[in-house]
Amino acid sequence: MAFPRTFLFLVFSMLLMAVSCVQSSSHSNSSEPRGIIKATYYPSWNANLPPSAINTTLFTHIFYAFLSPSNVTFKFELSNTTAIQLSNFTTTLRYKYPTVKTLLSIGGFGEGPLFAKLASSSSSRGAFINSSLEVARKFGFDGLDLDWEYPQTPKEMDYFGVLLKEWRLAIRKEAKASNKPQLLLTAAVYFSSDFSATGGSQKYPTAAINKYLNWINVMSYDYHGSWDPSATGAQTAFFDPKSKLSSYYGLRSWLKAGIPGKKLVMGLALYGRTWTLKDPNVHSIGAPAVNAGPGNGILTYSQVEEFNKNFSATVVYDPDTISVYSFAGNYWVTYDNIATLTAKIAYAQALKLRGYFFWALSFENGWTIASQVSRGWILEE
Ligand SMILES: *[C@@H]1O[C@H](CO)[C@@H](O)[C@H](O)[C@H]1NC(C)=O
Ligand SMILES: *[C@@H]1O[C@H](CO)[C@@H](O)[C@H](O)[C@H]1NC(C)=O
Ligand SMILES: *[C@@H]1O[C@H](CO)[C@@H](O)[C@H](O)[C@H]1NC(C)=O
Ligand SMILES: *[C@@H]1O[C@H](CO)[C@@H](O)[C@H](O)[C@H]1NC(C)=O
Ligand SMILES: *[C@@H]1O[C@H](CO)[C@@H](O)[C@H](O)[C@H]1NC(C)=O
Ligand SMILES: *[C@@H]1O[C@H](CO)[C@@H](O)[C@H](O)[C@H]1NC(C)=O
Ligand SMILES: *[C@@H]1O[C@H](CO)[C@@H](O)[C@H](O)[C@H]1NC(C)=O
Repeated sequence: MAFPRTFLFLVFSMLLMAVSCVQSSSHSNSSEPRGIIKATYYPSWNANLPPSAINTTLFTHIFYAFLSPSNVTFKFELSNTTAIQLSNFTTTLRYKYPTVKTLLSIGGFGEGPLFAKLASSSSSRGAFINSSLEVARKFGFDGLDLDWEYPQTPKEMDYFGVLLKEWRLAIRKEAKASNKPQLLLTAAVYFSSDFSATGGSQKYPTAAINKYLNWINVMSYDYHGSWDPSATGAQTAFFDPKSKLSSYYGLRSWLKAGIPGKKLVMGLALYGRTWTLKDPNVHSIGAPAVNAGPGNGILTYSQVEEFNKNFSATVVYDPDTISVYSFAGNYWVTYDNIATLTAKIAYAQALKLRGYFFWALSFENGWTIASQVSRGWILEE
């Protein structure tokens, strides 16, 4: 699909000017190193892509996904198989490309209750933190990432902040004792700092985030999906004039809450979400639907390409949301392609964000998207 460069350039220039007002409310500390972040999560369960096959030149940081502590001891109790996988991951990447940093991502979707319990007492936080540092050093990771999806209540948000504080203190102490650089500490967070689509009271402890985390990975996607089977939606809408479910709303909420752009890394979805339309002739965004579509509601980017080819699907670029959808018969898919991802990272640069991350490595066939997005980040530090 054609996507005029002049349009992108125009959008980009406008945004650079338009968002300066948002930026002025955040205080950047110019003496801190910036460093663009081009990251990706690595789903360890994907046997199709061993660490040795990763094109490391495209990334600055690779997150191993996922590891969870025991829900009884809150320590990591690794099987031999997992230990070998972790060791293979860090050793292979260090050997292939020593400048790429590796982080161990802890948690993942569905682990909310575990973290709520873990974070609520000082002894479980201590056991967890110590164990996480031990695992990170043992296997040679450069950092740790917390993927708590999501703290649900004001109390859980408080615990989240306390956990970050104690974790950073332990990291500082460990670095001093071992005479090594401090481990990086990051977290994957909801698309917005202050708004929950499920109606929960969701206000992140932004002071603790600023103070104790190197940066946050903002999950700027999953705005619509088959959890609402009654209507199609743009799962990665950058803008949405009709609701708060958009990356623009979410990223601005983080900036307004006082997290500087240099601590914000924008998530890019390398997968689509699908529906079965009620009427094949009504196929716009928001069209009535009856159910999830192919792939039980979710297709990786390479599967979306297959779907489009298999069914000779009609592909539509939607300028309002900056996303793509395709449909064939009753099937409907929302996703991003190179054009929309390039536009999204132009906006991310206009907002002076630190970089981007993909969910997830191995979802595209080859490296076309990762390469073009990497080239599309044109701003230097
Ligand atoms: C800026 O960062 C440096 C290095 O991390 C730190 O020593 C200094 O206190 C920071 N200044 C402000 C104003 O935050
Ligand atoms: C801990 O996890 C196991 C396995 O997922 C589960 O069967 C068990 O009920 C959990 N225990 C607690 C105390 O949550
Ligand atoms: C795991 O590895 C340890 C140390 O190499 C070994 O002693 C143990 O037998 C292994 N356990 C299993 C279940 O393979
Ligand atoms: C990692 O695993 C692969 C495939 O099993 C193997 O070929 C490679 O030698 C291992 N690398 C390291 C550094 O252990
Ligand atoms: C964690 O490690 C620190 C320093 O090694 C130690 O003082 C502390 O007792 C440990 N805490 C737990 C809960 O194991
Ligand atoms: C596309 O067709 C191929 C060959 O029939 C099949 O293996 C694949 O699962 C199909 N993929 C999708 C997403 O429809
Ligand atoms: C890795 O990505 C770079 C940059 O796009 C590209 O030049 C190179 O051919 C890729 N390597 C492989 C093995 O695909």
